[in-house]
Amino acid sequence: MYTDLQGKVVVVTGGSKGIGRGLVEAFAKAGSKVYFTYLSSEAQAKQIEDQLLSEGWFARAAQVDGSSLEHVRAYINEIIAAEESIDVLINNAGFIPRGLFLTTTDSIMDKTMDTNFKGVYNYCSVALKYMVLKKQGVILNMTTLSSYLPAKGQSAYSASKAAIESLSKVLAIEYGKYNIRVNTVAPGLIETEIVKSISDQVKSDILSKTPLNRLGNVEDVSNAALFLASDQAKYITGVQLLITGGKHLC
Ligand SMILES: NC(=O)c1ccc[n+]([C@@H]2O[C@H](COP(=O)([O-])OP(=O)(O)OC[C@H]3O[C@@H](n4cnc5c(N)ncnc54)[C@H](OP(=O)(O)O)[C@@H]3O)[C@@H](O)[C@H]2O)c1
Repeated sequence: MYTDLQGKVVVVTGGSKGIGRGLVEAFAKAGSKVYFTYLSSEAQAKQIEDQLLSEGWFARAAQVDGSSLEHVRAYINEIIAAEESIDVLINNAGFIPRGLFLTTTDSIMDKTMDTNFKGVYNYCSVALKYMVLKKQGVILNMTTLSSYLPAKGQSAYSASKAAIESLSKVLAIEYGKYNIRVNTVAPGLIETEIVKSISDQVKSDILSKTPLNRLGNVEDVSNAALFLASDQAKYITGVQLLITGGKHLC
C-alpha cells in the first residue's frame, strides 16, 4: 500500500512485544529493512526476527538499552555502517508505571524519565545528525493519550510523555528545513499485556467514554505509523496523532 516504504531503513525501539512488535511486523511487511531493539525479551525478539526472515522480510533484533547514550550511539553507528542511512526512526520503547504521585518513588520517576524521555532524546540526538546530512528523515515518537489528557495515577508517565511531545514539536520546527518530519503517535488504551493488569471496572469505564466503543488494537497504531512514515504524510510534521477511538473528547 505504501510503496515508498519499500527498502527504507526503519529503526523501531522496543520491538519485542506489544505495540512495538506490531510496528516491526507492519514495516517489515511493507518491505522496509527493520532494525529493532529489546531490553530483556531476547527469546521473543529472536522469534519475531526468525518468523519475519522465514517469510522473506528483513528484520534484525538487537539488545540495546535506550536509556544509555553510549549503547544507542554504538547501535546507530552500526546501522549507519551497514546501511549508510536511517530513513525512519520510531521511538516506541516505554515503561508504564502507575501510582499516585506520593507513592511514586525517586527510582520509579528516574526509570520512567530514563526509559521514556531520555530514550527518545538519546536516539534523536544520534540519528538526527545522519538525517540532517542526508537532508531527509522521519521520526515518530510514541506518547500516550495521558500526555494530552492527564490521568490520575500517571504523574511520572504523563510527565515523561508530555516532555516527549514538547521535544518532538521543537525538533519539527528546527529540522523541517532539512526535510525531516517529526510527529507523535498518542494511543489510548491498546490491547496489549497492560490490559491484563486493568480491572473490568476500569475497562468498562474507559469503554463508556470511548465513542467508537472498543479498545484500540496494535494494528490501529501500526496503521497510523505507516501512514505518518510514508510519503502520503509528506506535508505533516509537528502533530500529535491521537489514536483513542474518540476518548480524548470525553
Ligand atoms: N499499551 C497501551 O495501551 C499503550 C497506550 C498508550 C501508549 N503506549 C506506549 O506505547 C509504547 C509501547 O507500549 P506497550 O504496551 O507495547 O509496551 P510493552 O508491551 O511493555 O513493551 C515495551 C517495549 O519496550 C522495551 N523496552 C523497555 N525499556 C527499554 C529500554 N530501556 N531499552 C530498550 N527497550 C526497552 C521492552 O523490551 P523488553 O521486552 O525486552 O523488556 C518492550 O519491547 C510505550 O511507549 C507506551 O508508553 C502504550
